[in-house]
Amino acid sequence: MKIYQFVKILLLFVCLLELVLTCQYDWQCGNNQPFSQCSHDAFDLLTGIGYDDSLDRVILLGKFNGITSNANEPPYIASLPGNGGSPLQGDYPIITDSTTIYHRTQALIHYDQTLKLVYLEAAQYNSYGVGPYFSSNNSFVTTWRTTNLIPFGMYVDESTGDTYTCEYYLQRKAANGTSIEMLLQPVRCNHITRIGEKIYYVDQSGMYSLNRDCNQCRQADLVIRLPFYTTAFARSSSAFYFGVTHSFGTNYTGIWQLPIDRASDISYLKKIHSSSTHGLIFNRDAIKMFAATEDHQVLRFEQLDTTNPTSTTIYNHNQTTEGSCRCRSKFSGTDCRTCNPGTVRWLNGIPECVIKGTGPISCLQDYECKYPYGYCSNGYCKCQNDLTFSDTLDRCDCFNGTISWDNNGLPKCSK
Ligand SMILES: *[C@@H]1O[C@H](CO)[C@@H](O)[C@H](O)[C@H]1NC(C)=O
Ligand SMILES: *[C@@H]1O[C@H](CO)[C@@H](O)[C@H](O)[C@H]1NC(C)=O
Ligand SMILES: *[C@@H]1O[C@H](CO)[C@@H](O)[C@H](O)[C@H]1NC(C)=O
Ligand SMILES: *[C@@H]1O[C@H](CO)[C@@H](O)[C@H](O)[C@H]1NC(C)=O
Ligand SMILES: *[C@@H]1O[C@H](CO)[C@@H](O)[C@H](O)[C@H]1NC(C)=O
Repeated sequence: MKIYQFVKILLLFVCLLELVLTCQYDWQCGNNQPFSQCSHDAFDLLTGIGYDDSLDRVILLGKFNGITSNANEPPYIASLPGNGGSPLQGDYPIITDSTTIYHRTQALIHYDQTLKLVYLEAAQYNSYGVGPYFSSNNSFVTTWRTTNLIPFGMYVDESTGDTYTCEYYLQRKAANGTSIEMLLQPVRCNHITRIGEKIYYVDQSGMYSLNRDCNQCRQADLVIRLPFYTTAFARSSSAFYFGVTHSFGTNYTGIWQLPIDRASDISYLKKIHSSSTHGLIFNRDAIKMFAATEDHQVLRFEQLDTTNPTSTTIYNHNQTTEGSCRCRSKFSGTDCRTCNPGTVRWLNGIPECVIKGTGPISCLQDYECKYPYGYCSNGYCKCQNDLTFSDTLDRCDCFNGTISWDNNGLPKCSK
């Protein structure tokens, strides 16, 4: 009887949990609507993948409803359970993307399980910036810069806490944060790992190794030349895995396995899946590997050491009949009410988070943009000529200059 009751309560709990995570209508998204909404949008994946062992959740970077078709929508960090048992959930938006100060989020480079912190790579003027994104205050801190292609080589050694990066030099930052050692120079790489006393890195020509004690070494040992560029990389105790995107043609597109103890023998390089892959990650004990694909699927692999690895699709963006609750665009926080740094504006009973200085304010009519200083274009306020938005975004002005009028009777700035 007791067990029966326990099972009943458990089932009830499971059902409730399902109800919270999946939805059909906005009202099912708890007390926080209209700040949260039931979204049926497909989630398109950007490069990279993370995994949280304690939560058993796969961490993803992407955009709801199209990467290119929806330029004004911010990228999102979303997650889903490792068994795919409930739908993908939007966790928080990345609201630093901007065309005025050019910054465009491109890839999820690393997920710090302890701090629940993502490290992102963003295209900036003439380079890529890499660093942590803090959802608490919506700030991105550029910690490293690279002109190299995506992804940026970064590896956190869980047993020592050291962080290895490939920013022109292969360097190691001690866990205590005080020292940075230069292992190899110059080098630009996309992936790094450590096995025992050896550091392995992968660049666009292949895989190399060097001793972990290396101090300003000039050369590393070639392990293997690879016939493709790798966008994703992961390793278990017995094999390396490389994710290759479609840009290398159908012969190479997919996930490749290379046994560690045969790493220099190309005849052991074996394709285990044919999906164009830009994210690979193992769970901590390397029992299961997750892959993010270019056709917006998340796959789970098991029994990779055997001749019959299994793969299961745990997310497919084509299947969006079940909605998931998420914060409205640019809102964040557990109650979806945080609009930082920004101000909340209401339009037909729907809140909108207007971010200061980074992007345009939405509008329906010119007067909402304080015409003639501003005007409404394709649903967003723009400033006339070279006028710029005030800090509070409530008007366009000519700061530190004087307004004069052009031939069309519209304001311009003379400094
Ligand atoms: C945001 O929060 C992080 C972590 O608390 C902090 O290191 C960072 O300086 C903050 N950034 C801003 C702009 O407040
Ligand atoms: C920080 O770590 C490095 C490398 O492990 C070590 O050499 C150094 O003494 C440590 N510094 C402090 C202040 O603990
Ligand atoms: C792909 O593989 C096929 C069959 O092995 C071969 O005929 C073809 O030339 C390869 N294509 C490229 C681009 O390497
Ligand atoms: C998703 O749908 C498109 C269009 O119907 C199809 O071409 C594609 O193969 C589907 N992708 C997956 C992973 O099911
Ligand atoms: C105007 O000038 C002040 C003082 O020189 C400066 O701090 C501010 O950034 C300027 N504002 C603009 C919009 O250029």
